Amino acid sequence: MEKLVILGGSRLVGEVEISGAKNSAVAIIVASILTGDVCTIENVPDVSDTRALMNIINQLGGDAEFIDKGVLRVDCRELDSYEATYDSVKKIRASSYLMGALLGKFHRARVAFPGGCDFGVRPIDQHIKGFERLGAKTDVKYGCIELEAERLVGGGVYLDVVSVGATINIMLAATLAEGVTVIENAAREPHIVDVANFLNLMGANIKGAGTSVIKIKGVPSLHGGSYSVIPDQIEAGTYMIAAAATHGDVLVKNIIPTHLDSLSAKLSEMGVTVEEFDDAVRVSCDSDKRLRAVTVKTQPYPGFPTDLQPQMLTLLTLAKGTSVVSENVWDNRFKYVAELRGMGVNVTIDGRVAVVEGVERITGSPVSSTDLRAGAALVIAGLMAHGVTEIYNLKYLDRGYEDLVGKLKKLGAQITRREIVENNSQSNAKRSKKRA
Ligand code: EPU
Repeated sequence: MEKLVILGGSRLVGEVEISGAKNSAVAIIVASILTGDVCTIENVPDVSDTRALMNIINQLGGDAEFIDKGVLRVDCRELDSYEATYDSVKKIRASSYLMGALLGKFHRARVAFPGGCDFGVRPIDQHIKGFERLGAKTDVKYGCIELEAERLVGGGVYLDVVSVGATINIMLAATLAEGVTVIENAAREPHIVDVANFLNLMGANIKGAGTSVIKIKGVPSLHGGSYSVIPDQIEAGTYMIAAAATHGDVLVKNIIPTHLDSLSAKLSEMGVTVEEFDDAVRVSCDSDKRLRAVTVKTQPYPGFPTDLQPQMLTLLTLAKGTSVVSENVWDNRFKYVAELRGMGVNVTIDGRVAVVEGVERITGSPVSSTDLRAGAALVIAGLMAHGVTEIYNLKYLDRGYEDLVGKLKKLGAQITRREIVENNSQSNAKRSKKRA
């Protein structure tokens, strides 16, 4: 087991190269099942979520391996199983895409309930509604969702909630179906466009991705090919916030700046300087300037992303005045605030709304990640704090941030990853707790 140790107070200065989008890559890896061919996917982040899906592809009879840095070869020619009931499925949310891809390819799928970060109830009713609309029968048995269809025939699906996962999953199931599927009230996130572009390049006929109405005209088969994943806007946003939080000066490279418009606007409102270039943004802030409090409301894209809410709230803990952060996507995404309280923040939570009273300083503390983006928020808090912060439970951060320590060190952060050495009294206490 390891922990991160951060000595706060250093300004982040320099350049950081952003990796491929984790949430796009996980969907595209699964989408390659539909090709039944060989795909080369570039700009894939080497994080535990992509590794977990590679394992699942291999367990299903395919062959997924990194052949170069960021270059993944996925060979699905011999992939012959429609059952994904392995432990690894439990670990990641994106394993839900196996339902759409396996159903599309085999007209049958048996997939364990997907895992992922815990933000309260994470229903999949909209996915199921979409599959049933295409003609699949669905059942739940022994912790698995079973899907079966004699024929998959396109139809209209109106999503009751804007769901990234349901939009992608229905797109996957409909790609090889007969006829035309229309998804209304579809999510518009950049990674939905990315998955559609990948599928179209392999021979699919998908129009309207990136708008709220997507039309998928089924095709009989897809072929293999090469594709490059878009940059990770959430990783980019995390470094932009970290730059502002340390009153630094950072050029965030290899990004699509328009994907981050909602964040850039909020940072500017706070008094941070954000300069946009073709494929980069520079975020800078005077070292003696106190940032202003703002109101943040998370929304589906192009609104402010929920996946940057914990990082943004953390930045606001030192801003002058009172900020209000409303979480409108997930039921329960403020768990990490309990960890920040030990660092001296002044935040009150009422349901989906957090009120942040800016304080003049926060101090280092031992803290534990409660999910992926919460982990990123704690890293930012550690960089902002006086003294040393130790961050435990790194499995979440490892799911989605490639080379986090290396990238932050290059920018001047004092951060190291260390083995946790248990002292005797701690391990004795653990042993007696186990016996009890
Ligand atoms: N929802 C339903 N029914 C459904 C599906 C979703 O009610 O059938 C609700 C959810 O409970 C939630 C809202 O709809 O309140 C949005 O959920 P969505 O389906 O869009 O989320 P997701 O596909 O499970 C993806 C990202 C998340 C990100 C959300 C929202 C991936 C692998 N995950 O999850 O990313 O928070 O969209 O943008 O793409 C992360 O990267 O840290 C992360 C959690």
